[in-house]
Amino acid sequence: MRNLEIRKITSSELTDEIIHSLVDLEKQYIGILKDFLWDMYDVNAEGYEFPELSLKNKEYYQRVLCNPDVLLYIVTDKETQKTVGYAYAQVRHNYDDLVRPPVMEICEIVVDIGYRRKGMGKLLAERLERDARERNIRLIQLAVHEFNTIAKEFYVKRGFTTLMRKMIKKL
Ligand SMILES: CC(C)(COP(=O)(O)OP(=O)(O)OC[C@H]1O[C@@H](n2cnc3c(N)ncnc32)[C@H](O)[C@@H]1OP(=O)(O)O)[C@@H](O)C(=O)NCCC(=O)NCCS
Repeated sequence: MRNLEIRKITSSELTDEIIHSLVDLEKQYIGILKDFLWDMYDVNAEGYEFPELSLKNKEYYQRVLCNPDVLLYIVTDKETQKTVGYAYAQVRHNYDDLVRPPVMEICEIVVDIGYRRKGMGKLLAERLERDARERNIRLIQLAVHEFNTIAKEFYVKRGFTTLMRKMIKKL
């Protein structure tokens, strides 16, 4: 889309607006997971705030972005200057589950609900794939929840296949 721009963010470019938007977008993502999490942990959904999110302040992002293995892209709506999507990935150097390092791990790709289905998720994933190639990384991995059917379709469309299943049982 013409009015949307994707750019890589370094720690010196972080603004309060960007950080607020990243946390808001992560809340949208967590919203998808809520039903499952409530069942799992027997917590009351009403007004519940995830404690992990309160740790995601400027210091947190600045610390994370000092790591050269971390990549953060944001999508900006040029009209409103709002951050409406992001992709966060990290290069891993450890051998894990038959995956030989180095491997790029996509930690999160989130697009604001009002901007979905416009190709932004695809462009974010393409940027990460390009970065991986530039670093001579031949594998990209990620974890996706089984019930997140949209994300699964999104990644399958991009050529990802399932290597393993993480199984859980509630006691
Ligand atoms: C998954 C997500 C990032 C996709 O972003 P997006 O910008 O809407 O995706 P795109 O427009 O680039 O779609 C690319 C392809 O993915 C698939 N896809 C995307 N949304 C879909 C949907 N709602 N239903 C089915 N397929 C879908 C389609 O194949 C689509 O190609 P097409 O539009 O040509 O059919 C977005 O839905 C999102 O932010 N979801 C919540 C967060 C999340 O679950 N992230 C993934 C786990 S980290």
